[in-house]
Amino acid sequence: MRLQRFLARAGAASRRGSENLMTAGRVRVNGYVVTELGSKVDPLIDVVTVDGIVYTLTQKSVFLMLNKPAGFLTTMKDPRNRPCVASLVPTDQHPGLFPVGRLDKDTTGLLLFTTDGQAAQNMLHPSKHVTKHYIALVEGIVLDEDLEPLRRGILLDDGPCAPAQCELVDKNSRQAMSVVGRKYHAQHLEYKASTVVCLAIHEGRKHQVKRMLEAIDHPVIRLHRQSFGPLSLGNLKQGSWRLLTDQELASLTKMGIQQ
Ligand code: URA
Repeated sequence: MRLQRFLARAGAASRRGSENLMTAGRVRVNGYVVTELGSKVDPLIDVVTVDGIVYTLTQKSVFLMLNKPAGFLTTMKDPRNRPCVASLVPTDQHPGLFPVGRLDKDTTGLLLFTTDGQAAQNMLHPSKHVTKHYIALVEGIVLDEDLEPLRRGILLDDGPCAPAQCELVDKNSRQAMSVVGRKYHAQHLEYKASTVVCLAIHEGRKHQVKRMLEAIDHPVIRLHRQSFGPLSLGNLKQGSWRLLTDQELASLTKMGIQQ
Protein backbone atom coordinates (compact mmCIF):
# COMPACT_ATOMS: atom_id res chain seq x y z
CA MET A 1 0.00 0.00 0.00
CA ARG A 2 1.24 3.50 -0.78
CA LEU A 3 2.53 5.22 2.33
CA GLN A 4 0.35 8.33 1.94
CA ARG A 5 -2.74 6.12 1.59
CA PHE A 6 -1.72 4.16 4.67
CA LEU A 7 -1.29 7.39 6.67
CA ALA A 8 -4.68 8.71 5.56
CA ARG A 9 -6.39 5.41 6.38
CA ALA A 10 -4.67 5.28 9.76
CA GLY A 11 -6.06 8.74 10.56
CA ALA A 12 -2.75 10.65 10.58
CA ALA A 13 -4.08 13.30 8.16
CA SER A 14 -5.98 13.63 4.89
CA ARG A 15 -4.33 12.15 1.79
CA ARG A 16 -2.87 15.55 0.85
CA GLY A 17 -1.92 16.24 4.47
CA SER A 18 -0.16 12.86 4.61
CA GLU A 19 1.90 13.78 1.57
CA ASN A 20 2.90 16.98 3.30
CA LEU A 21 3.91 15.04 6.44
CA MET A 22 6.11 12.84 4.26
CA THR A 23 7.79 15.64 2.31
CA ALA A 24 8.40 17.46 5.60
CA GLY A 25 10.45 14.46 6.76
CA ARG A 26 8.15 13.66 9.68
CA VAL A 27 7.32 10.11 8.60
CA ARG A 28 9.54 7.09 9.33
CA VAL A 29 9.14 3.51 8.20
CA ASN A 30 11.01 1.03 10.38
CA GLY A 31 13.02 3.93 11.76
CA TYR A 32 14.02 5.44 8.38
CA VAL A 33 12.68 8.79 7.19
CA VAL A 34 10.69 8.33 3.98
CA THR A 35 9.97 11.40 1.87
CA GLU A 36 9.35 9.80 -1.52
CA LEU A 37 5.63 9.95 -2.31
CA GLY A 38 5.43 6.68 -4.25
CA SER A 39 6.90 4.62 -1.39
CA LYS A 40 5.04 1.48 -0.34
CA VAL A 41 4.51 -0.16 3.03
CA ASP A 42 3.16 -3.47 4.21
CA PRO A 43 0.62 -2.57 6.93
CA LEU A 44 1.08 -5.96 8.61
CA ILE A 45 4.88 -5.80 8.85
CA ASP A 46 6.21 -2.24 8.65
CA VAL A 47 6.26 0.11 11.63
CA VAL A 48 5.15 3.57 10.52
CA THR A 49 5.58 6.63 12.74
CA VAL A 50 4.76 10.32 12.42
CA ASP A 51 6.77 12.51 14.77
CA GLY A 52 7.61 9.32 16.66
CA ILE A 53 3.98 8.21 17.11
CA VAL A 54 3.15 4.77 15.73
CA TYR A 55 0.20 4.56 13.33
CA THR A 56 -1.68 1.36 12.48
CA LEU A 57 -4.75 0.58 10.41
CA THR A 58 -7.54 0.18 12.88
CA GLN A 59 -10.70 -1.75 12.17
CA LYS A 60 -12.67 0.35 14.64
CA SER A 61 -15.88 1.84 13.31
CA VAL A 62 -15.94 5.57 12.78
CA PHE A 63 -18.86 7.81 13.78
CA LEU A 64 -18.98 11.49 12.97
CA MET A 65 -21.56 14.21 12.58
CA LEU A 66 -21.81 16.90 9.92
CA ASN A 67 -23.69 20.16 10.22
CA LYS A 68 -25.09 19.95 6.72
CA PRO A 69 -25.47 23.18 4.78
CA ALA A 70 -28.32 23.68 2.30
CA GLY A 71 -27.62 22.84 -1.33
CA PHE A 72 -25.93 19.44 -0.79
CA LEU A 73 -27.49 16.08 -1.70
CA THR A 74 -27.32 13.32 0.91
CA THR A 75 -25.35 10.88 -1.21
CA MET A 76 -21.70 9.84 -1.47
CA LYS A 77 -21.69 10.11 -5.26
CA ASP A 78 -23.92 11.86 -7.73
CA PRO A 79 -23.86 10.70 -11.35
CA ARG A 80 -24.74 14.26 -12.39
CA ASN A 81 -21.87 15.72 -10.34
CA ARG A 82 -24.08 17.94 -8.22
CA PRO A 83 -22.69 19.01 -4.82
CA CYS A 84 -23.05 16.17 -2.34
CA VAL A 85 -22.23 15.61 1.32
CA ALA A 86 -19.28 13.34 0.44
CA SER A 87 -17.23 16.46 -0.30
CA LEU A 88 -17.78 17.71 3.28
CA VAL A 89 -16.55 14.68 5.26
CA PRO A 90 -13.07 13.08 5.50
CA THR A 91 -13.52 10.11 3.16
CA ASP A 92 -9.73 9.92 2.62
CA GLN A 93 -9.06 9.19 6.27
CA HIS A 94 -12.17 7.10 6.73
CA PRO A 95 -13.04 5.21 3.55
CA GLY A 96 -16.41 3.51 3.74
CA LEU A 97 -18.13 6.41 5.51
CA PHE A 98 -21.78 6.80 4.59
CA PRO A 99 -24.68 8.89 5.88
CA VAL A 100 -27.19 7.41 8.32
CA GLY A 101 -30.54 8.27 6.73
CA ARG A 102 -31.15 11.37 4.68
CA LEU A 103 -31.73 15.07 4.84
CA ASP A 104 -33.31 16.80 1.85
CA LYS A 105 -31.06 18.96 -0.32
CA ASP A 106 -32.41 22.16 1.21
CA THR A 107 -32.48 20.86 4.82
CA THR A 108 -29.64 21.87 7.13
CA GLY A 109 -28.35 20.36 10.36
CA LEU A 110 -27.23 17.15 11.97
CA LEU A 111 -26.34 14.35 9.60
CA LEU A 112 -24.61 11.36 11.14
CA PHE A 113 -22.02 9.31 9.23
CA THR A 114 -20.51 5.96 10.07
CA THR A 115 -18.51 3.10 8.60
CA ASP A 116 -20.61 0.66 10.65
CA GLY A 117 -23.45 -0.77 8.57
CA GLN A 118 -25.05 -2.62 11.47
CA ALA A 119 -25.14 0.48 13.69
CA ALA A 120 -26.68 2.50 10.86
CA GLN A 121 -29.36 -0.11 10.36
CA ASN A 122 -30.09 -0.15 14.10
CA MET A 123 -30.33 3.60 14.23
CA LEU A 124 -32.87 3.71 11.40
CA HIS A 125 -34.92 0.76 12.62
CA PRO A 126 -38.37 1.86 13.86
CA SER A 127 -38.07 -0.40 16.94
CA LYS A 128 -35.24 1.78 18.29
CA HIS A 129 -37.50 4.86 18.34
CA VAL A 130 -34.61 7.25 17.75
CA THR A 131 -36.08 10.72 18.27
CA LYS A 132 -35.06 13.53 15.92
CA HIS A 133 -35.70 17.18 16.70
CA TYR A 134 -36.39 19.51 13.81
CA ILE A 135 -36.88 23.22 13.76
CA ALA A 136 -38.97 24.60 10.92
CA LEU A 137 -39.74 28.03 9.61
CA VAL A 138 -43.21 27.73 8.09
CA GLU A 139 -45.52 29.94 6.11
CA GLY A 140 -48.33 31.73 7.92
CA ILE A 141 -49.20 32.34 11.54
CA VAL A 142 -49.45 29.10 13.50
CA LEU A 143 -51.40 28.95 16.77
CA ASP A 144 -50.60 26.32 19.36
CA GLU A 145 -53.96 24.64 18.76
CA ASP A 146 -53.13 24.31 15.03
CA LEU A 147 -50.46 21.77 16.06
CA GLU A 148 -53.01 19.43 17.69
CA PRO A 149 -53.46 17.19 14.60
CA LEU A 150 -49.70 16.58 14.61
CA ARG A 151 -49.77 15.80 18.35
CA ARG A 152 -52.57 13.30 17.80
CA GLY A 153 -50.85 11.72 14.78
CA ILE A 154 -51.74 13.08 11.37
CA LEU A 155 -52.71 10.96 8.38
CA LEU A 156 -50.43 11.35 5.35
CA ASP A 157 -50.89 9.72 1.94
CA ASP A 158 -48.57 6.84 2.95
CA GLY A 159 -50.32 6.20 6.27
CA PRO A 160 -50.75 7.71 9.73
CA CYS A 161 -47.84 9.34 11.54
CA ALA A 162 -47.08 8.54 15.16
CA PRO A 163 -47.98 11.38 17.53
CA ALA A 164 -45.32 14.10 17.34
CA GLN A 165 -44.18 16.43 20.08
CA CYS A 166 -44.43 19.96 18.74
CA GLU A 167 -44.35 23.48 20.01
CA LEU A 168 -44.11 27.05 18.83
CA VAL A 169 -40.72 28.73 19.09
CA ASP A 170 -40.04 32.43 19.67
CA LYS A 171 -38.60 33.80 16.42
CA ASN A 172 -36.09 35.89 18.34
CA SER A 173 -34.82 32.99 20.44
CA ARG A 174 -31.44 31.30 20.03
CA GLN A 175 -33.22 28.12 19.02
CA ALA A 176 -34.82 29.89 16.07
CA MET A 177 -31.50 31.18 14.72
CA SER A 178 -30.83 28.12 12.56
CA VAL A 179 -33.89 28.87 10.42
CA VAL A 180 -34.22 32.62 10.88
CA GLY A 181 -30.88 34.07 9.78
CA ARG A 182 -30.56 37.81 10.09
CA LYS A 183 -30.21 38.29 6.35
CA TYR A 184 -33.20 36.08 5.69
CA HIS A 185 -35.16 37.92 8.32
CA ALA A 186 -34.45 41.26 6.71
CA GLN A 187 -35.26 40.07 3.21
CA HIS A 188 -38.37 38.02 3.70
CA LEU A 189 -39.89 38.02 7.11
CA GLU A 190 -40.69 41.66 7.34
CA TYR A 191 -43.49 41.37 4.84
CA LYS A 192 -44.37 37.67 4.87
CA ALA A 193 -46.14 36.02 7.79
CA SER A 194 -44.19 33.05 9.12
CA THR A 195 -43.80 31.02 12.32
CA VAL A 196 -41.04 28.89 13.85
CA VAL A 197 -42.07 25.43 15.04
CA CYS A 198 -40.11 22.69 16.80
CA LEU A 199 -41.04 19.06 16.09
CA ALA A 200 -39.81 15.79 17.53
CA ILE A 201 -40.50 12.60 15.59
CA HIS A 202 -39.08 9.11 15.69
CA GLU A 203 -40.11 7.97 12.24
CA GLY A 204 -38.09 8.74 9.12
CA ARG A 205 -40.38 8.73 6.12
CA LYS A 206 -39.53 10.65 2.97
CA HIS A 207 -40.02 14.43 3.38
CA GLN A 208 -41.98 13.57 6.52
CA VAL A 209 -41.68 16.85 8.41
CA LYS A 210 -42.43 18.91 5.31
CA ARG A 211 -45.47 16.76 4.53
CA MET A 212 -46.72 16.93 8.13
CA LEU A 213 -46.57 20.72 8.17
CA GLU A 214 -48.03 20.97 4.67
CA ALA A 215 -50.92 18.81 5.93
CA ILE A 216 -51.83 21.50 8.48
CA ASP A 217 -51.56 24.15 5.73
CA HIS A 218 -48.23 25.64 6.81
CA PRO A 219 -45.65 24.74 4.15
CA VAL A 220 -42.02 24.68 5.27
CA ILE A 221 -39.79 27.55 4.21
CA ARG A 222 -36.67 26.28 5.98
CA LEU A 223 -35.93 23.08 7.87
CA HIS A 224 -33.06 22.28 10.24
CA ARG A 225 -32.33 19.11 12.24
CA GLN A 226 -31.07 19.91 15.70
CA SER A 227 -30.63 16.46 17.16
CA PHE A 228 -30.56 12.80 16.29
CA GLY A 229 -31.23 10.53 19.27
CA PRO A 230 -28.80 11.49 22.04
CA LEU A 231 -26.62 13.49 19.62
CA SER A 232 -26.88 17.21 19.10
CA LEU A 233 -24.89 19.71 17.08
CA GLY A 234 -23.74 21.95 19.93
CA ASN A 235 -21.52 24.67 18.46
CA LEU A 236 -20.59 22.79 15.31
CA LYS A 237 -20.51 25.30 12.44
CA GLN A 238 -22.46 24.72 9.27
CA GLY A 239 -20.34 22.79 6.74
CA SER A 240 -18.10 21.39 9.52
CA TRP A 241 -17.87 17.87 10.92
CA ARG A 242 -16.55 16.33 14.13
CA LEU A 243 -15.99 12.81 15.44
CA LEU A 244 -18.43 11.70 18.13
CA THR A 245 -17.02 11.95 21.64
CA ASP A 246 -16.50 8.86 23.80
CA GLN A 247 -19.52 9.96 25.82
CA GLU A 248 -21.70 10.15 22.70
CA LEU A 249 -20.48 6.72 21.57
CA ALA A 250 -21.30 5.34 25.02
CA SER A 251 -24.83 6.73 24.72
CA LEU A 252 -25.27 4.89 21.40
CA THR A 253 -23.99 1.71 23.04
CA LYS A 254 -26.49 2.15 25.87
CA MET A 255 -29.31 2.34 23.34
CA GLY A 256 -28.10 -0.92 21.76
CA ILE A 257 -27.13 0.85 18.55
CA GLN A 258 -23.42 0.10 18.46
CA GLN A 259 -21.07 -2.23 20.30
N1 URA B 1 -38.27 15.69 6.97
C1 URA B 1 -38.26 16.36 5.80
O1 URA B 1 -39.31 16.69 5.26
N2 URA B 1 -37.08 16.66 5.24
C2 URA B 1 -35.90 16.32 5.79
O2 URA B 1 -34.83 16.63 5.23
C3 URA B 1 -35.92 15.63 7.01
C4 URA B 1 -37.12 15.32 7.58
